[in-house]
This record gives sequence, structure tokens and C-alpha cells, in this order.
Amino acid sequence: MFTVELADQTDFDGWRHSARALALAGIEPAQVRWTVKGAQSDDLFDAAASALPEPRDNADLTVPRPFIERLQTIMHHSDDDRFAFMYRLLLRVSQEADLLKVLSDLDVQRLERMEKAIRRDAHKMHAFVRFRKVAVGGKDRFVAWFEPDHYIAEREADFFVKRFAGMNWTIMTPWRTIDWDGERLTIAPGARKEDAPSADAAEDLWRTYFSSIFNPARLKVKAMQAEMPKKYWRNLPEAPLIPALIASAGRRAENMVESAPTSAAPHHSRIQQRYWEGRQTMTEITDASSLDDLRKMADGCTRCPLYRDATQTVFGEGPENAEIIFVGEQPGDQEDLAGAPFVGPAGKVFDDTLAQVGIDRQRVYVTNAVKHFKFVPRGKRRLHQKPNGGEVQACRWWLDREIALIKPKLVVALGATALTALYGKTLPVTKNRRQVLRNDADLKIFVTVHPSFLLRIPDAETAARERRLFAEDLAALRDLMAA
Ligand code: URA
Repeated sequence: MFTVELADQTDFDGWRHSARALALAGIEPAQVRWTVKGAQSDDLFDAAASALPEPRDNADLTVPRPFIERLQTIMHHSDDDRFAFMYRLLLRVSQEADLLKVLSDLDVQRLERMEKAIRRDAHKMHAFVRFRKVAVGGKDRFVAWFEPDHYIAEREADFFVKRFAGMNWTIMTPWRTIDWDGERLTIAPGARKEDAPSADAAEDLWRTYFSSIFNPARLKVKAMQAEMPKKYWRNLPEAPLIPALIASAGRRAENMVESAPTSAAPHHSRIQQRYWEGRQTMTEITDASSLDDLRKMADGCTRCPLYRDATQTVFGEGPENAEIIFVGEQPGDQEDLAGAPFVGPAGKVFDDTLAQVGIDRQRVYVTNAVKHFKFVPRGKRRLHQKPNGGEVQACRWWLDREIALIKPKLVVALGATALTALYGKTLPVTKNRRQVLRNDADLKIFVTVHPSFLLRIPDAETAARERRLFAEDLAALRDLMAA
């Protein structure tokens, strides 16, 4: 048995040096005991550190540099078994070149989980460190207490140096204290919570600010607790306000809704009124043997509450003998007013791309998973809202009948909502993109992105690349249909 003693919990150089020597000597993971100087050990037989073994003849150890960086990250994890795990993984990666691509491998999964835990801990530290002002030698100094889950204080020091370069500050954690005097960073041993100051006058100001920015209409208690777990509340000056703010959020949100604009633009109401007056004559149709009848039936649809605010039902459009049906998410603002699918900005991207690859829109059928526009009013604007599972499910009744009447060779899911509606359960679009899936009814579903996704990409280069990919998707679809 070899015993390795590391200088401290994050002594990566020490681990690397020892692991390399052990690996070159052909030492199995089970033959190595990893310890940390001064750390309490559960081991009944504390052993002194062993001399490192000599390498075997012609022994070689090469692993990719990015893998070493990943090991360096998980060295900061608080799992006591990590040194042994890292050694085992080192040996495996040196023998199986593609191991890290095997996402089903339990060791690879564990590596990813540990990296994620470190990233999450760092994110929490960036978000929840709260400095308190103290006067030291006539100068202001900002001191914070923080309890990370892992050994990350030292690793995150650069972040705080960059963000608070002009301040003198100290962050104390149980494991390390990091200190910045405006010029130099010092890493010192950990501290106790009592060593940190507990309150200062600026906190009243901060609490007032926090209450005023707290938006009750946006409150999602679960998400808030996931983002700001209770364990961090102890050290946040705004924490005592949170329960009262949550308790009053419902009432405050109702007040906001009451005082918010409730009516959309006047032309929306005029069209809606005309629409409902005209609709009275169409309600006698109860079963549809043609698309025309189905469209008239759908005009009176009240299968979910969305019909109440939308201007009208936006039914599918295209020939009854179409070979392809394109399914989007739901009508947008312009489609809702025009009563036709894909006529707004996303429709323009869609039309342009169809034309580019030589698919004639007149020969395909275009519809949506949900036939009413879902929105929230914001002043004079109506902001798109994603339909929920119940709304998609309610509207599937129409989509199924459109498909049954048209009997297309293939249906194209434009984005995630359409894919869920067609496939019957949620699937990732990116993973299935350009694939042809079959649902339980054996319907062929070609998967691609939604054109409005292309409109939301802020960076011009990425947007151009994504548009090319969308065109390639539709070209692949065209070739598939021609085959
Ligand atoms: N987005 C959709 O999903 N459908 C439309 O008709 C317009 C925009």
C-alpha cells in the first residue's frame, strides 16, 4: 500500500506529481491511500507518507491537456474520495482514448456531476457574498462571511479581484480567507463566522432598495429557493424581508394586474367583434369531412381559455392534398389579426427559406399546434406567451383532424411545441434535428427549429449561421420528399 500525503485540500501539483509517479510504476488505484496533511482521517491506521515508486521500463503516460484541467476543477470538490477517483480516471483515460465521450460511463458521469457542483457553488458565491463595511486604521474595509459547499474560495479570488479591484476587501470562509488590499491578494487560513462583522448602516439602504425592486408578479417561490437556497439567507441583509414580501406578493400582484392595461389595440376588438358576430352561423356543424368544415368548426373553438382574449381562431392553410404539413407553435400578433398562419416576421423567414430551397408554399399545408394567440398585454403591445401543456393538448384535437383529413406523407415540426404536440411527449429539438421520427400512430415527423428562433439571435454571425442551417434542414426535407 502506498500512502500519499497532499499539502492541503487543493494541492493539485502534489496530487499530479504523485499520481504520475504511481501510474508510471503501474500501481493500481486500490493500492493507494490518499491523505491531506493535518486533515482528520477516518482511517484506523494512519500511515506515514510513502516514498514514490520508480517508474517501470518504457512506461509512458499521456492524457489530453483539457482532461487535466477538468481534474484541476474537481480537485476543489469536497468529496473526500476525489483523489482516488481522479487517479482511477487518470489511468482509464490514459488507456481508453475516447472514454470521456462515453456519456453513459459512470465515472464520466461522476466527473460531470462534480464539475457542475463546482460551477454552481462558484455561481452562488458570486451572487451571495455580501460585504459589510468596517473601519480599519481609519480606512474603510469591506468584509464578508461566506460558506461554500466546496473548496472554492481561492479559486474564485480572481473574480472578486476583477469585480472589486478598487476596494479593500476580505472574504472569510471556513476553509480559506482571501484578502485584497487594492494591490495584492493574500490567501490565509479559514475563519469563523464570529470573526466577521454582522451589520452596518448601509444595510438599511440595501434593504430599502431590495424591497423596491422586488416584483411580486414575477415571484416564483420554488425557483427563488432553488436559486437562493435558505442556507445563504443567514448572511444576506435582505433575507429578513423575504418571508413578508412573499406573503404579500399575491395581493400586490393582483393590484398590479388591476392597474395594468387590459385591452389590446382597438382594431383587435373590432376584428374580434366582427368575428364573433359572423361565427354564430357556423356553430351547427358538428362533424367535418372536409377541411373547410373543420375550419368552420374550429372558428367556434372554446376547448381551452385562450379563445377569450385572442381575436380569432387561426386555422391551418393549404391544399387538402398536400404531401407535407408544417406545424408551428401558435399564431403571433400579426397572424391573430390577419386570421392566417405564418404571415408575420417569422412567416417571412419561413417563406424566404422555402423559396430559397425551392419548396412551393402553395403546395404545402401550414398550421400551428395551438390555434389561438396567447399573450400578455404590455401597454399597447401584446407579448407572446408560450402555450402550456394543457393548451397544446386541448388543441391537438384539431391538429389530429387536420392530419387525418390531409393524410400527408410527412409532417414537419417547427420547434419544440410542435414536436411535443406531434410526438406526444417532450423531446429535445437539437438532438433530433433533421431526423425523421415516428409517433405512436406511425406518423412521420421531420424535426427542425422554429423560424422565430432565428429572429431572436442577437449576434449577426450566429444568426447567419443558424439561417444557413435552417435552409439546409429544409433542403434535406425537399430531397427526402423527392427520393
Ligand atoms: N409562429 C408560429 O408558430 N406560428 C405562426 O403562425 C406565426 C408565428
